[in-house]
Amino acid sequence: MLDKSLGLKVSRKNGEKIRKALVETGAFDRSRKICSDESHVYLPVLQMDEKSSAMVGNIAEFELVEINFPPEEKIPSPEDLLGFRPSFEVVGDIAMVEDSDAERVAAALMSTSKSIKTVIAPISDVEGEFRTRRFRHVAGEAGTVTLHREHGRRYRVDLEGAYFTPRLGTERLRIASLVSPGDVVLDMFAGVGPFALLLAKKGADVIAMDKNPVAVKYLRENALLNKINNIEILEGDAAELARHYENRADHVIMNLPHSASEFLLPAMRAARSGGVVHYYCIALEEDLYKDEALIRKAAEEIGAGGEVLYKNIVRSYAPHRSNVVIDFRVKKAVI
Ligand SMILES: C[S@@+](CC[C@H](N)C(=O)[O-])C[C@H]1O[C@@H](n2cnc3c(N)ncnc32)[C@H](O)[C@@H]1O
Repeated sequence: MLDKSLGLKVSRKNGEKIRKALVETGAFDRSRKICSDESHVYLPVLQMDEKSSAMVGNIAEFELVEINFPPEEKIPSPEDLLGFRPSFEVVGDIAMVEDSDAERVAAALMSTSKSIKTVIAPISDVEGEFRTRRFRHVAGEAGTVTLHREHGRRYRVDLEGAYFTPRLGTERLRIASLVSPGDVVLDMFAGVGPFALLLAKKGADVIAMDKNPVAVKYLRENALLNKINNIEILEGDAAELARHYENRADHVIMNLPHSASEFLLPAMRAARSGGVVHYYCIALEEDLYKDEALIRKAAEEIGAGGEVLYKNIVRSYAPHRSNVVIDFRVKKAVI
């Protein structure tokens, strides 16, 4: 025997609008199934407070009822199946799992998620100049190319061919909040374009470069995919290419955390006076911002000065090591 519980009886044509309003106010009872007859739908609710009643009442008439709503079947989580919380990252429809126990975790992911089509496991660290990783196929469709959505943009990504991580999504939004339409942005290590295309969509004039031909191929494809024209895409060494943009950039993005310090001079030169260099590096927890000294030294070397505007941990990287960002405003003598 099912227990009776509270619900709203509303006309079929208003059912979806009212369901959304109930979800928004937190009144919708997700543990029970929606019922219907020819003319009405019955929406299960937890309670109807003043806010929910007012919001629903603004949409259409409703009647409070008590009926037997059948329980919603609970879809098990990977954790329910495995008995532990697996560690994995999802890019598009590909899940990346740890190599140990990969098959068991993959089976749990594939059976609980409709959106995961492929499971792969890294068999190397992020390595080399292009910061790429090798993977082995574990389950589902073979391949490392997928379409990933982030902040309303779509990115074609080849996880083996070019660097990409969704773990910088929040940091990309922070940078976007600092950039104004018409600003000139130089993205020195653009990869497949997650900073560059987001900022171009905000109206900045972006110059994006990368040395990895695979990354550049996807960057071009992603610009087209997102209908972005205000971007110049260049393949090559950022130290060389940035020379053509001296004193131009309002923002210089240096997302090459393991060796950004080697590119500080061209970055400083590319910044206009008042421009900001966004510098990323990997740092030990006991001295997170030690590269501040390198940044100041590089500014001095080109006869400039400046100030740190912001510094923070972007994400944890490894035990006792973090990926940090330092934003440095460059001040140059006006010639
Ligand atoms: C850590 S990835 C960052 C990619 C991108 N900004 C992102 O957030 O996904 C660094 C990128 O720098 C590129 N790279 C490495 N050395 C370079 C150089 N000397 N000049 C230009 N790009 C370089 C790599 O190919 C890689 O795509």
